[in-house]
Amino acid sequence: MIQALRGMKDLLDPANERYLYFTKHCSRIAENYGFTYIETPLLEETALFKRSVGESSDIVGKEMYQFTDKGGNDVCLRPEGTAGVVRAFIQQKYDKAGGGKKFYYYGPMFRYERPQKGRLREFHQFGVESFGESNVKEDASIILMLKEMLDFFGIGYVLELNSLGCHKCMPPYREKLVQFLEGEEDICDDCKRRKDTNPIRVLDCKNEHCKEIYRHAPLITDNLCEDCQEDFSKLTSILDSFGVKYVVNSKLVRGLDYYNKTAFEFVSDEIGAQSAIAGGGRYDRLVEFLDGKPTYGIGFAMGIERLMELIKMPEKKREGYYVGALCEEALDSCFELSIALRREEKVVLHYEKKSLKAHLKNADKQNARFCICIGEDELVEHGLWMKDLENKEEHKISISDFLGD
Ligand code: HAM
Repeated sequence: MIQALRGMKDLLDPANERYLYFTKHCSRIAENYGFTYIETPLLEETALFKRSVGESSDIVGKEMYQFTDKGGNDVCLRPEGTAGVVRAFIQQKYDKAGGGKKFYYYGPMFRYERPQKGRLREFHQFGVESFGESNVKEDASIILMLKEMLDFFGIGYVLELNSLGCHKCMPPYREKLVQFLEGEEDICDDCKRRKDTNPIRVLDCKNEHCKEIYRHAPLITDNLCEDCQEDFSKLTSILDSFGVKYVVNSKLVRGLDYYNKTAFEFVSDEIGAQSAIAGGGRYDRLVEFLDGKPTYGIGFAMGIERLMELIKMPEKKREGYYVGALCEEALDSCFELSIALRREEKVVLHYEKKSLKAHLKNADKQNARFCICIGEDELVEHGLWMKDLENKEEHKISISDFLGD
């Protein structure tokens, strides 16, 4: 029997309901913040991710679904959404037009990781990307929007916040960090590699011994330039004024290379080892790196699978109609009635005749609000029998009155 690939899942009952509920309400909130929907291809040129997510990242280095297509192009399934949205932004010449643009998206992403709870090879993200805003109020808005989404679903979290500095203060800090690392022989092999490729990534190392060493490492938050320092304190005071709780984590570096200044992660202790439920930050130089006109950028993405199990779903109410025939002769009437009713209402039609008791049982199973049955008597009267399964009232009515013809 052919099975879905390891780390990939079908989305069906009951998770599908949660997925639709989640994306519907996140979309609604994103639209309230002025974001519009964007969809970009799942497949892109590999170079796009190499130049944005970065060759030193695990995502590009180890986890890409990369292959050569029949035309000889080096392509790859998107491991994340930001790069494709930035590519589309530049391709549509929005960078040249100036002004802001705000997009939201959701859909599958692909990373060839070792699957475990909360870590899939095909997973879904809901993300937003905002272009053209340097004002730190946009950083605050993005975080407030994400908080609003999580609050709406009743999801608890801790917000970790950092500033990664800018092109002025990051290079001297990186230099300082490399100098610190030069004196440390005992760091793991991964960190030795990171020291040469992207030194700040060492701060993210999960190795306990390395973590102990980095307790004494210089911190970016102590080495920010005046502008970055000022923006970071403005951001934290806006968050304070809105009662948003956060912890500053100076070792939060994110796993993608395009970030500068604000970086953040929302984590949960309710989902096991894979605790990051959302992450994001500024990427003010990414448009330029991808050959666009320099344009500020900031965004985030949430891992939908990690959030789905935490969502508090509203109580399920009965809805729509169940229609069933009590005799063979009524099957066509039931069919015609259902087609007419479906213009306005949700209808589950049973194609075979059954007893009233059996239909009522089915209607209950389908969680229908109303059960409609047509039998011999109703056929003669051109009517139908209907029971409200919520308040248990039942009555007969002519089909034309019922449909309002
Ligand atoms: P990311 O931190 O790589 O950021 O991913 C965002 C979220 O996707 C994570 O916090 C996690 O919840 C979820 N996620 C990541 N990998 C997996 C996986 N293998 N299985 C299940 N869930 C996963 C980005 O992707 C950036 N593009 C976010 C961003 C948008 N930054 C600015 N704009």
